[in-house]
Amino acid sequence: MNSSVEKNTFPLELMNWYLHKGYDFPWRNTSDPYSIWLSEVMLQQARVSTASPYYLHWISALPDIHSVAEAPIDNILKLWEGLGYYGRARNFHKACKIVIEKHGGVIPRDPLEFSKLPGVGPYICAAVMSIAFNLPIPAADGNAIRVISRMNSIDSPYPKSKKRIITFLSGHIDTISPGYFNQAIMDLGREICTYKNPSCYICPVNIYCCSYVNNTVDKFPANIKKVSRPHHNVAVGLIWKDNRILISKRNDSGLLGGLWEFPGGKIRSGENGTSCVVREAQKTLNVLVVPVAFVKQIKHAYSHFSITVDAYSCTFRGGHPRALGCADFRWIHPRETGQFAFHGACHKLFDKILETASV
Ligand code: ADE
Repeated sequence: MNSSVEKNTFPLELMNWYLHKGYDFPWRNTSDPYSIWLSEVMLQQARVSTASPYYLHWISALPDIHSVAEAPIDNILKLWEGLGYYGRARNFHKACKIVIEKHGGVIPRDPLEFSKLPGVGPYICAAVMSIAFNLPIPAADGNAIRVISRMNSIDSPYPKSKKRIITFLSGHIDTISPGYFNQAIMDLGREICTYKNPSCYICPVNIYCCSYVNNTVDKFPANIKKVSRPHHNVAVGLIWKDNRILISKRNDSGLLGGLWEFPGGKIRSGENGTSCVVREAQKTLNVLVVPVAFVKQIKHAYSHFSITVDAYSCTFRGGHPRALGCADFRWIHPRETGQFAFHGACHKLFDKILETASV
């Protein structure tokens, strides 16, 4: 904080800017705690432009906690398909069931109680409690961390800086409209105090920003060492029988749990793509397949790892499919992929299977 500036006018100017700008998102036109909670879970990982259509679609399909609690997990995953971090959707589903069973369908207003629900960490708790219930709890998302690190020229990286950031926010949060305050910081981070090329010259609170005043904005937030994501080489079989293709559902636990895919797996050392597909089809589904053609190579990055996938067209040569190493399987026409929640990489193969199938 620039000590020459009256400390307490920072929230005021921030709030004026927020109200004047009036960024209009669908979750800002409601005071329904369920809708606000859902939006925050989606926004934890996605940009507002990505989350908006998902949010609107979800709310029209599942307008309240009851409808989520009663929905099968497959519907939940289908509504979440493409957003990534599927564990968050599963946790939200579980949490809604608990709200029905233990809290009579009413979202707890007590942050300690709310935090006990699956998937409710400090950020979600703070965001929902402040926006839906007006509790003055600061929400430190990525935007807030960047904004406050710059304002105070905090030279330790997150999460080391967490305590300082929360202390600063707690000391400045608007106690009448804490939800607006939290969202104002988010908007400032998204629109002005961006990671690259921040627009400091039009920042409504630049005079309070130590880094701006000292011309060191590019030094903050202090760099977090990037953890490298593992990369896997994978082979999958597009297994055909009578113009239908075999798909399998991943077991519920683990990465991408409960999502559908084309059978396959990691290529082991000493193995090639085709032998991998044959082994995986046998092991996962108890079927004998013969790879007949290489179809396509795709690359895909998930939240925790990335993959290169070699897809092979295969003919089905026998065996009774059984879910040995998966949760379920189906023979589907390629036009039916839309009825299942597939994980990201599979979508990049849909064009090829549609080309191959006869109508
Ligand atoms: N990011 C996280 N929560 C948000 C919200 N309520 N509005 C805009 N961006 C957000």
